[in-house]
Amino acid sequence: MARIPRDVVEAVRDRTDIVQVVSQHVKLQRRGGSLVGLCPFHQEKSPSFNVVPAKAMYYCFGCQNGGDVFKFLMQINGLSFAEAVKELAGPAGVEIPERELSPEERRQLRARASLYDLMQAAQEFFHSKLLTSAEGQVARDYLQRRAMTQQTIEEHGLGWAPAGWTSLVDHLQNQGYPAGLILQGGLAKQSDRGNGRIYDAFRERVIIPIRDERGRVIAFGGRLLEGDGPKYINSPETPLYNKSKVLYGLEAARKAISRRDRVLLVEGYFDVLSLHQAGFTEAVATCGTSLTDTHVQKLRRLSQNIVVLMDADTAGTRAAARTLPMFVTQGMQAWRLQLPDAKDPDELIREGGPEAMEDALKLKEPLLEWYTTQKLQTYGYSDSGRSRTLDEMVDLLGHLSPAQVSTFAALLRMNEQLILQRVAERRADASSHGEAPPYHDEGPPQAQRWRPERDIVHLLWLVVHRRDQVADLMSLLDPQVLEGHGPILEPMARLLQGESLATVIHETSDVGVNRTLQAIGARTRLYSEDEAAHALGDVLHRICKPLYEGTLQRLQRQSQQLRDRGLQQEMMHTLQAVASLQTRKRTLQDAIRHGRMEDAIPLLAPIVDLPETTDSP
Ligand code: UTP
Ligand code: MN
Repeated sequence: MARIPRDVVEAVRDRTDIVQVVSQHVKLQRRGGSLVGLCPFHQEKSPSFNVVPAKAMYYCFGCQNGGDVFKFLMQINGLSFAEAVKELAGPAGVEIPERELSPEERRQLRARASLYDLMQAAQEFFHSKLLTSAEGQVARDYLQRRAMTQQTIEEHGLGWAPAGWTSLVDHLQNQGYPAGLILQGGLAKQSDRGNGRIYDAFRERVIIPIRDERGRVIAFGGRLLEGDGPKYINSPETPLYNKSKVLYGLEAARKAISRRDRVLLVEGYFDVLSLHQAGFTEAVATCGTSLTDTHVQKLRRLSQNIVVLMDADTAGTRAAARTLPMFVTQGMQAWRLQLPDAKDPDELIREGGPEAMEDALKLKEPLLEWYTTQKLQTYGYSDSGRSRTLDEMVDLLGHLSPAQVSTFAALLRMNEQLILQRVAERRADASSHGEAPPYHDEGPPQAQRWRPERDIVHLLWLVVHRRDQVADLMSLLDPQVLEGHGPILEPMARLLQGESLATVIHETSDVGVNRTLQAIGARTRLYSEDEAAHALGDVLHRICKPLYEGTLQRLQRQSQQLRDRGLQQEMMHTLQAVASLQTRKRTLQDAIRHGRMEDAIPLLAPIVDLPETTDSP
């Protein structure tokens, strides 16, 4: 059966009493805001299994099993998610649609329409235009010229955005989607004429839907057929779509990546499509942006073996080189493959079939060796050229296996011991200057699942249990303060917008974040409503403090150096910056002490920025 719509799932969850369901399996006793009992999922003598009715969740502090009522039934009765939802839908009085909804039912559901539904509706519209409309003929011809099969078109849900200014907008508005949501999804733009009208963002383009890891459409790429204009236009960043996290094709590639233990990283949408069509279903691409650490983290959970297929031009070479430190620090085995005659994978396969690709793959070389050779060719094989190459790569070398260091030494024609010595010196040097080593070395990368610090746990607790008291204050916070805490940002934003904890947990794939959120949900007492705002200020201040203390130290060190070099005027500038930073620090601490959080929280950000902004007199 088709997926159960999200609204229906939420309705069932909202209308089910989790205490009643759990009580059929566990004897529960009330304790504060929650109910406790002996955990059904592990052996225990004293109860650590909690049910929190206010959050519609359960969590065991002993075995860390936790989730919503569906998860409970899945675990205890061995049901699938859909089965669990169905089982509870009847008693909850919610009907699971087995058929298409009537327009009226649609409109009702739309009252809670989510961006996900909107994107799905748009994808269906584009797809049907491609498959059946007369005007879609040009696009069908185009895709045929590019050798895309009917199966590929359907599996990947390709589409056609018709001409005219409001084809999609009209269609969506007829289905009851409000203009604001359509704009928010990046599907339309506001007219400049100030008449409040909106018009289609994608017109006369072949549409490539971009999905998240759970297969939900979150964005589109649009390919121009011919003529003037950018070759591709892409959805903007939206609440659903963050380009630095999403990889095109990952949802379809996930199984193959684990099974074959290999990722093929390419540049374009059509490269992914052609590779998948030719049987290389382990191919993914970034969405027209450069690769980030987050992308790499996503991939390395599936495979640590990655082949980078970038264009042979300078931009492609530079991009491939940029990826190396990310792969090395995350312990990936990375390869570089340059296709013959500077083709992209799509062209290679169209001309030579899957065999040509298979042959080409034999030519891959370790990315590290390629990178080193590139540097040596640039700087030359003289003593100074080799020394410069070593200098630029010394931070990376600390992450290499002994075998990789040997290879590197051979390429550089240098003594291995000498290289290792340089690495050690560089480390000592970095730590004596108080800088963090350029790449953290925290044991085996497998252990790097996100773990919360205490302050972050408290921050999340406040967002979960005291949202009404902290949401406005949180909106005053500069996002930079939490920048280093990537995995929690999206769940936290959704909680602040009022999404339920159960929904957010259900839709977060990071295991570490999920465990933490479950434990937080089960912990009902920490700060009272009256204490919440003050606690938020304290917690954010503690998170921010190392950032501005670091800035202070850096500035002080810098003024020392400037004085030693006799640069009087520059030194005065730096000292002024130090003074103004210290003033800010006092104002901030004062505001916190007196409980003026609306004054304090905005002050947390500029301090981080100070070194740049105080350069001018
Ligand atoms: P390429 O220019 O290499 O195009 O861009 P391509 O993928 O080979 O495209 P085809 O085969 O001619 O259709 C690589 C990727 O860069 C992004 C897209 O994600 C594209 O797939 N891109 C490119 C844009 O976002 N905008 C552009 O104008 C061009
Ligand atoms: Mn191409």
